[in-house]
Amino acid sequence: MLRFTDPSGNAIELVHGARPAGHAYVASREAGITGFSHIGLRTTDAARDEAFWTRVCNARVSDRIGTAPLLRIDAVHHKLALFPSAHPGVQHVNHQVAGVDDVMRAYYFLRERGVRIVFGPGRHPTSSAIFLYFEGPDGMIYEYSTGVRLIEDEASHRPRQFPFEPTSFCMWGSRPDIPEFRHK
Ligand SMILES: [Fe+2]
Repeated sequence: MLRFTDPSGNAIELVHGARPAGHAYVASREAGITGFSHIGLRTTDAARDEAFWTRVCNARVSDRIGTAPLLRIDAVHHKLALFPSAHPGVQHVNHQVAGVDDVMRAYYFLRERGVRIVFGPGRHPTSSAIFLYFEGPDGMIYEYSTGVRLIEDEASHRPRQFPFEPTSFCMWGSRPDIPEFRHK
């Protein structure tokens, strides 16, 4: 493994060959999670950190919302996204779920239990994923989403520039109650 900090000060660990736990993960509820998919990191300088991730760590820009780059390290539209902020840190954690039924079941399940829904249900025009963002007990923002776009033809892809406004985050009209999605 290799541990380093990005230019904003986020601690990153690159790991190879992690051994599987050897026993099945049994969740308390069948949320439909198929796997971790991406992380949103706070950046204190988006252009500087984009250069770091693309030039040093071989990430590629799939799209940008304002100055915020959505970065891929494989065919998945983004595994990392950098959102401007006054300080570093994890901005949100995304898990993919199997389908739209899981997104909507989570919405009603969480709402009924008083969990704060901070964005969605909605659809990202960038990755085309259908999403739901909610706040965990420690204030961390989590996202369930499904249908994230794959970029299979690396040679022909060109990053698109989306304006920093609510319709660039949700094409259905949902408004984010997430500071980094509301302020540049
Ligand atoms: Fe996300």
